[in-house]
Amino acid sequence: MGKQNDQEVLERIKVSILKAREKASLAGAHEPDPMRADAVQWPVQCTVGPGLEGAVACESKVGYVNGTKGWLLYRGYDIFDLCAHSNFEEVSYLLLHGQLPAREKYRAFQGKFRLFWHIPKTIRQITGLPLEEMTPMGALRLGTTIMRQNQTYRDEKAHDHETSALGTDEDSIAMESQPTGHEKAVYEFIKSHTPNPSLSTTDKNSSMEFDSCYHLIAGIPTLLAAIHRIRIGHMPIGPKADLSHSANFLYMLTGEIPDAVSERILDICLMLHADHGMNASTFASLVVASTLSDIYFSIGAGIGALNGPLHGGANQEVITMLRSIGGPEKVEEWFEKARAEKRKIPGFGHRVYKTYDPRALILEPLAEILSEKTDESRKLFATAKKLEGLVIRQWGEDKKIYPNVDFYSGLVYDSLGIPDTLFTPIFAVARMAGWTSRIMEYLERNRIFRPRAIYTGTFGEEWVPSEERK
Ligand code: COA
Repeated sequence: MGKQNDQEVLERIKVSILKAREKASLAGAHEPDPMRADAVQWPVQCTVGPGLEGAVACESKVGYVNGTKGWLLYRGYDIFDLCAHSNFEEVSYLLLHGQLPAREKYRAFQGKFRLFWHIPKTIRQITGLPLEEMTPMGALRLGTTIMRQNQTYRDEKAHDHETSALGTDEDSIAMESQPTGHEKAVYEFIKSHTPNPSLSTTDKNSSMEFDSCYHLIAGIPTLLAAIHRIRIGHMPIGPKADLSHSANFLYMLTGEIPDAVSERILDICLMLHADHGMNASTFASLVVASTLSDIYFSIGAGIGALNGPLHGGANQEVITMLRSIGGPEKVEEWFEKARAEKRKIPGFGHRVYKTYDPRALILEPLAEILSEKTDESRKLFATAKKLEGLVIRQWGEDKKIYPNVDFYSGLVYDSLGIPDTLFTPIFAVARMAGWTSRIMEYLERNRIFRPRAIYTGTFGEEWVPSEERK
């Protein structure tokens, strides 16, 4: 696309996001507005299902998801506004520091943030590893551990203070008291009055801590690009100073400077995936952080959780499915078969959203714009649109099943020339902003996570010597 044309497409992208916003607000308009919870009075009562469903783990000002209204907010800002007007670096600042930066502050932040694009020591170390024998997610997790060296205050200071960090004695609390309630368990959350031990060992607002967040958010794209290149037998490429964060990422992946449209679309994808409530990987990273382990280990837990097919990865399945359908004219027959077999269709339905996922609404027009590039992409997009129509007609009203973020993100990445194997790692690249922000916030009032299990085993088993056992 030419420069003039690029400008037109960029404008089209912005208009399409603002239009999608109107559609979203209409869809959720009849649902009641949420009440604002200023200060949480702990302990709170909540109904807990298997997998901690419904449990309140903590309070947070970082982000908000409302599944009935179809809202996704970062620090109070609507995701539609952020995707129309902002960029991933600014959104990372917003999530981490709680406010949109004024111009000078943003410049200073950007100057510092971009220094962390450079992770030569880590790249040198991973270059010697058999990355082609690992999945990109496995290599990414390993890479973050290598990035950790000399970055945390824990590596720099002796560990003598840290034993006190674990001094809050959970076992002094009557944890084994029976849950009350009839059909549903109501659990008590015990308020802690103990001073936060972590604050005596480090200042959470010190630049060292935020440096680690910048290092992770800025350095991970460099790491992932290097992992990808090494896995396919190429040399890693370092960052280029005059490019934006997203353009740099695409450049380090492919060696080509991307056009403005691809750059903007990837940036929107990163913004969209930056945070999403108390999902499994965010919770996993918070659990590790709550032990006052360091942020790199915490992030490693997040990557591990994201690796599972129930969390990251559905977008890869979507693209495989769309390819296998074979074209828009074959969708009906394929859908009837899937329905008869009671198969779950990847890219539809959501645990939280019971209306349109706002991220899918933003991604759909981006997928359409990119699909205009090739016949193959056009065919895949037409297949997706046809399938979306059938699914919504069948289950939208009745079961509240609509496209989720993964339905169109795979198509977008595919059209950007990004291989399927990188879809989930790119999710991690974006979510780094949410993970680190929520970790920093949680550590302000840290309390080690310690749910419990209901023991359903036996009591009073008698010891039998091994030779007498059956
Ligand atoms: N295709 C067809 N039917 C679906 C469906 C899908 N993608 N997702 C949910 N349903 C149906 C279920 O079969 C069930 O029907 P039933 O009540 O007749 O048994 C009903 O909707 C509720 O399903 P359930 O799995 O309990 O919903 P959930 O809210 O717990 O699950 C997901 C949410 C995301 C796990 C589920 O929608 C899913 O597996 N989607 C496909 C995978 C995917 O896209 N994951 C990425 C999520 S971002």
